Amino acid sequence: MTITNPIKIVVVGGSFAGIAVINTLLSALGPSSKNIEITLIERRDARHHSLGAFRALINEEFHSQIWVPYTSLFPKDSPHKVIQGQLSEVHHGYIVLGTGQSIAFDYLTLCTGSSNPAPAKFNVDFSKEAIEITNKTREDIKKSNNIVIIGGGACGVEMSGEIKTAFPEKTVTLIHASGTLIDYPGYADKLKSTALTHLQALGVDVVLNERITIEGLDYNNAIQVAPRTIHTKAGKTIESDMQFLAVGIQVDTSYMSTLRPPENSNFDPQTIINEGTHTIKVQKTFQVVGFDHIFAVGDCSDFSKVPTAAACTYTGPTVAKNILALIEADTKNKKAKLVKGSGPPAIMCLATGPTTGVTHLPLFGAKFHNFFSRAFKSKDLMIGLSTAAMNIK
Ligand SMILES: Cc1cc2nc3c(=O)[nH]c(=O)nc-3n(C[C@H](O)[C@H](O)[C@H](O)COP(=O)(O)OP(=O)(O)OC[C@H]3O[C@@H](n4cnc5c(N)ncnc54)[C@H](O)[C@@H]3O)c2cc1C
Ligand SMILES: *[C@@H]1O[C@H](CO)[C@@H](O)[C@H](O)[C@H]1NC(C)=O
Repeated sequence: MTITNPIKIVVVGGSFAGIAVINTLLSALGPSSKNIEITLIERRDARHHSLGAFRALINEEFHSQIWVPYTSLFPKDSPHKVIQGQLSEVHHGYIVLGTGQSIAFDYLTLCTGSSNPAPAKFNVDFSKEAIEITNKTREDIKKSNNIVIIGGGACGVEMSGEIKTAFPEKTVTLIHASGTLIDYPGYADKLKSTALTHLQALGVDVVLNERITIEGLDYNNAIQVAPRTIHTKAGKTIESDMQFLAVGIQVDTSYMSTLRPPENSNFDPQTIINEGTHTIKVQKTFQVVGFDHIFAVGDCSDFSKVPTAAACTYTGPTVAKNILALIEADTKNKKAKLVKGSGPPAIMCLATGPTTGVTHLPLFGAKFHNFFSRAFKSKDLMIGLSTAAMNIK
């Protein structure tokens, strides 16, 4: 392929995956930048540290830390830049933003992640809007007495624990459709059963095997303040004045529908998108199937069975190394040696409050208690990782 001068690397999405790719590129390039220009396209004005979303719900001071600006990401006077904008079309050698602006690339990395219902993640372009939602939700929680959370995945477990820990006098009920909490493939059964006994010890009412719908509560209106009486199959009646929907990770990769190889206008981009999940099909090198110069990594790709921020710290750097290997091979007219990615060990740490949680560390054998969780995550929800990665002092 013909490489323009300077070489343009475009990364879309500035969160765990995108920032891991960029920081690995920056440290390999050093101050000279070696005639490479990195552009980050991000729809928002600041990076949301989603791991801290539920603490922000109950703690105003913590809240001010979870939106991290992009202003210090690139060194001053470097050729690299951040453009706030929404990716709407991917083509073979350029992308188009929602504003109609098109941006050429030699190498593209898609890191557009996933969304969860608010208040875990937010479908907004400006941090201020998300902060307003969280502020209002915090006030509503204070005023409510009986809170119901639907969905016993990692989000529901963490949210119910955070709220119950902050407000022990309130009734917090977690309702889950199946018989096992955090039932993700590859994680230890002991973690799942410990999550249940841990929440019960905190005083959360856990209701299993009940698939509940609540009037007015859905993905786009996942926080509701309304009197709702819930009748379970098992014959229980639950009164509530506030409800949350904590289910349904969604991936939007509709921007792929314009992508075609130059020599094949009959190519159907649906063939590189997984049905149902909408994740992008990638090879073990993170190259999008059929497109050697386009990569996808993080929650928007199908590399990890259970997508996590932890996985991005393993996979993001591999993408950066592969892009640099392709560039080097191209300048020397050789075939590039690309590295295959590996996932992280099945570590899971669920924080249920500033001092409590459930952790599974397969490396050291299974350990599950508050001490580990506090040291590992619960105290500050790893906010330091995001601020350090964004060069915020
Ligand atoms: C409450 C909560 C707690 C969690 N706790 C943990 C944990 O403890 N450990 C763990 O490993 N994982 C955890 N996760 C999962 C983790 O947050 C995700 O795996 C991680 O965010 C994935 O990172 P990503 O960079 O792929 O995508 P995302 O974090 O989803 O980021 C995608 C970025 O792309 C931007 N974007 C999206 N679409 C476009 C577009 N079209 N144009 C431009 N920009 C776009 C978004 O604004 C965003 O900045 C948690 C998730 C939640 C919700
Ligand atoms: C959110 O609440 C905090 C604390 O009460 C306040 O300082 C801040 O201005 C609020 N932000 C928005 C955007 O409403």
